[in-house]
Amino acid sequence: MSNWSASSWRQKPIVQQPTYPNQDELNRVLEELRNYPPLVFAGEARSLKAQLANASEGRGFLLQGGDCAESFSEFHAHNIRDTFKAILQMAVVMTYAGGVPVVKVGRLGGQFAKPRSSDTETIDGITLDAYRGDIINGVDFTKEMRVPDPQRMIKAYNQSAATLNLLRAFASGGLADLHVVHKWNLDFTNQSEISKKYEDLAEEIGKSLKFMEACGITSKTHRTLRETDFYTSHEALLLPYEEAFTRKDSITNEWYDTSAHMLWIGDRTRQLDGAHVEYMRGINNPIGVKAGPSMDPEDLLRLCDVLNPQNEAGRLNIIVRMGADKVADGMPKLIRAIEREGRKVLWSCDPMHGNTVKSSNNFKTRPVDSILTEMKQFFQVHKSEGTFAGGVHLEMTGKNVTECIGGSFVVTEEDLSSRYHTHCDPRLNADQALELAFLIADTLREAQK
Ligand code: PEP
Ligand code: CO
Repeated sequence: MSNWSASSWRQKPIVQQPTYPNQDELNRVLEELRNYPPLVFAGEARSLKAQLANASEGRGFLLQGGDCAESFSEFHAHNIRDTFKAILQMAVVMTYAGGVPVVKVGRLGGQFAKPRSSDTETIDGITLDAYRGDIINGVDFTKEMRVPDPQRMIKAYNQSAATLNLLRAFASGGLADLHVVHKWNLDFTNQSEISKKYEDLAEEIGKSLKFMEACGITSKTHRTLRETDFYTSHEALLLPYEEAFTRKDSITNEWYDTSAHMLWIGDRTRQLDGAHVEYMRGINNPIGVKAGPSMDPEDLLRLCDVLNPQNEAGRLNIIVRMGADKVADGMPKLIRAIEREGRKVLWSCDPMHGNTVKSSNNFKTRPVDSILTEMKQFFQVHKSEGTFAGGVHLEMTGKNVTECIGGSFVVTEEDLSSRYHTHCDPRLNADQALELAFLIADTLREAQK
């Protein structure tokens, strides 16, 4: 890797960064972080890469989901547990009804920094720095809270470590046991059509588990029935933080960003000659790049040249986030360019970020209908191009929030104010996420016929 180092991004133009008022304090914090233990092990990132390689060839499906922005105030075991459970339920639906292994990756354990459309925010004639995520400044609209504070990186690291610790315990300690996941249906006593659909599926799974048990295949005898792999990911936006966790793997001598298993570049920071692309080209983790409506096919190919020069399967995930009305028009030309040049990528669909609207009562929301439509179109385009629809990238929570409107258990515009908790973008609640999982499962099963 020529001319790359963990800090070579510092020589390139950079966008979407805070300006810290005290450089000495920033440097002291970064020095401290450089000595902190890594959050993930390079070998885990390699296993994820291998699973993503399978998904890119139609032998699996990536389910990536979690908060738009994690926050210090919403840090609670119950929130982590509920998001974990929602992702696992979706995975069960997709695995059982869709017939493919699901690779589970949380937007968790480090998803703190946010790109913003404006550097400032004005309320009632007062202008302050924009909120950039809890790892940088505070969400409250006061002058003091909006000042970037390096100590927040230490707090974000500690929260990420505790989150990851709990996720690992859930994944291997019994919560992910299929017998348990299958019983969660009993918690659904509510009325929604989706809960009913899940109950029916759970009953079928119950029968299959009984049958397997009779054949001697149980959680006791088979690790895969009682444990799962669960990975973490976040947008690699705050590069000083990512640099501090860039470590050389002692086994392969390669560089990894050890703050998460997978990192991605946002739609606003993917400039070819920019700092974010420079940083990401040198780490060996699986990585993603968001592709919005402005992504040009030639630029996408140049990004592949820089970010995946060896054309390694599983390395590069193109996360398409065009919007329901643009994807059918915008995506085929990207796919054709990639196919023409024989590039190996995993295509996934982010049906969230192109479908954000303001409700009439002034909430930032997303209609579930548009989300489902974009997902369907994503599958349709891949079908007609003869390529694999490899995954989905969601902002979701296991909590019963009211942030996205619609869904089979309908959330209305009037409901938005009742449980609108997000620190940034509106998330699907557990019911809405499950509804999407059923749609994906049906489509995956169709594709196998
Ligand atoms: C996000 O994933 O939260 C995000 C900001 O996405 P994008 O870069 O696609 O706008
Ligand atoms: Co978002």
